Amino acid sequence: MSETTSGRGFMGWIDDRFPATKMWKEHLSEYYAPKNFNFWYYFGSLALLVLVIQIVSGIWLTMNYIPSGDRAFESVEYIMRDVEWGWLIRYIHTTGASAFFVVVYLHMCRALMYGSYQKPRELLWIFGVLIYVALMAEAFMGYMLPWGQMSYWGAQVIISLFGAIPVIGTDLAVWIRGDYVVSEATLTRFFALHVAGLPLAIIALVVAHILALHEVGSSNPDGIEIKQNKDESGKPRDGIPFHPYYSVKDLVGVAVFLIFFSIVVFYMPEFFGLFIEAPNFEPANPLVTPDHIAPVWYFTPHYAMLRAIPDTFGGVLVMGGAIAILFFLPWLDRGKVRSIRYRGLSFKVALALFLISFVILGYLGLQPATGLYTILARIFTAIYFGYFLFLWVYTYFGLEQTKPVPERVTMK
Ligand code: HEM
Repeated sequence: MSETTSGRGFMGWIDDRFPATKMWKEHLSEYYAPKNFNFWYYFGSLALLVLVIQIVSGIWLTMNYIPSGDRAFESVEYIMRDVEWGWLIRYIHTTGASAFFVVVYLHMCRALMYGSYQKPRELLWIFGVLIYVALMAEAFMGYMLPWGQMSYWGAQVIISLFGAIPVIGTDLAVWIRGDYVVSEATLTRFFALHVAGLPLAIIALVVAHILALHEVGSSNPDGIEIKQNKDESGKPRDGIPFHPYYSVKDLVGVAVFLIFFSIVVFYMPEFFGLFIEAPNFEPANPLVTPDHIAPVWYFTPHYAMLRAIPDTFGGVLVMGGAIAILFFLPWLDRGKVRSIRYRGLSFKVALALFLISFVILGYLGLQPATGLYTILARIFTAIYFGYFLFLWVYTYFGLEQTKPVPERVTMK
């Protein structure tokens, strides 16, 4: 051991005991990424950044937050008014929650456009969808902690949905709440899951996501496998080392992101009532229901689908199905071509309709479930699911007319 270490300095000593240099090379300096990454490829690294922001700001909030039915609301007010820089830490965390979903939705949109979920990246995609589900649970539980009116009633509405499941529903809802109504028992378990359980699960899933990515290699806007064209030394001809090329490029994305992030944190932290909703400035009151209960914006597309169905259990199935169907996407899309650049017109129109429907459903979820809004929610829910059906029929029966895919990546 000492012979191999001698002359190789401190890193030599470490490397004999821990694969530091090996990992650095494998995942950064000798990880070859396609040289044609565009705007859409910023969002993976930005999601990592937001994850770190949320963990750090969350740890600092936990230092002064009190998870008790009597004191949770007042402890948040204390953080806002009396804890030094407490307002900043809280606004970073609330803005970070919304930023996480903005970034993750754009990241998923890229995968849909460039077919990044297709073979051999199915497992990478599945880890992604699992992260998305865990992130929704994390955000839902975090939203309950300030113990404001919307925290309380939002939790009441969502947990009672489990009660609609036949046979086991009622018991399941009581089991989740730890009580017959949302109470301190619910608050303390949500706190434990929000600060420890789910963050650990999300971190583990992100590690798995990146390991899966590095196993198969990154795709790109042309949807070409760069590993299929290597030079004499075995390096992909269309690849460049992630570090320093993309580490530096991603820093530009980080700088631009932080400018937008800071504008929201310092000048518009409530973001027109979308990031922090008005009823949540009032303490939770189990005896008074707010006039209009709506979840935070990133849940509203699913909320609109839930309310579009007259029967509650049917709504729960549709809402759950809207997320569950994402797991099957790699097998529903059997297209021969990955990237939207070389796919048929029908695919482009269908994807555009799907994305527009999701945004409109997001708007409808913020409106009262009455008359025209409900009819529209039904139409756009049908389009949302219709996309998956269309994709399967279109690709399974070979109806797609594709354009020829180039041999090498293109630099547009
Ligand atoms: C905490 C959340 C997440 C983090 C930190 C994260 C991180 C990353 C990173 C760093 C990359 C490589 C860079 C890039 O391609 O942009 C990546 C790629 C990818 N991610 Fe994620 N991700 C997250 C969530 C998701 C979700 C929710 C999905 C889908 C449901 C997803 C699907 C993918 C796919 C398919 C790729 C491969 C893209 C390609 O090679 O073309 N990710 N992710």
